[in-house]
Amino acid sequence: ARLVVLVSGSGTNLQALLDAIAADPAGYGARIVAVGADRDGVAGLERAERAGIPVFVERVKDHASRADWDRALAEATAAYAPDLVVSAGFMKILGKEFLARFGGRTVNTHPALLPSFPGAHGVRDALAYGVKVTGCTVHFVDDGVDTGPIIAQGVVEVREEDDEAALHERIKEVERQLLVEVVGRLARHGYRIEGRKVRIS
Ligand code: GRF
Repeated sequence: ARLVVLVSGSGTNLQALLDAIAADPAGYGARIVAVGADRDGVAGLERAERAGIPVFVERVKDHASRADWDRALAEATAAYAPDLVVSAGFMKILGKEFLARFGGRTVNTHPALLPSFPGAHGVRDALAYGVKVTGCTVHFVDDGVDTGPIIAQGVVEVREEDDEAALHERIKEVERQLLVEVVGRLARHGYRIEGRKVRIS
């Protein structure tokens, strides 16, 4: 399967996918054909370049409107003809133009146990709430914010001494493994989305 991965930051989830593919190119069942970002100069783009993977950047501020940006991102993505789009630490909401083309085959990873703590500060919100366990969620993207059908989740205990950074780092250890496992399964097997359920054959 052809993957386009979207990043906004350090790209450690992207790196986990790159490493899993490099470790077993034939067996993993997918390859990353391009990496896209909403901003320049992020480590995620450097990781792609080091791996010899084409990159593209679409910044909201370069476009007359959010809808224009969304369309440009969809077109830049479509140029690589992905089977699956992976939003891995991508910090923009994908709009209806993007989802018209890639809905049902775009997955996102979120560092909390959805539906709890959606949005850009899931780790901070969980910590502030005082939960004893949190974790990460890999889900299909729908037209809401972190509301699409859930594919898999991983649980992470919250420790007394945790601050946001420490907790997020521990979540990311689980999240990277979960994302690699889910993307590989979706790539190697067919899947169907039935309402809020995901069936991977
Ligand atoms: C991940 O935890 C992702 O869920 C969240 O931001 C983090 C991105 O990490 N949105 P990275 O860029 O993959 O290192």
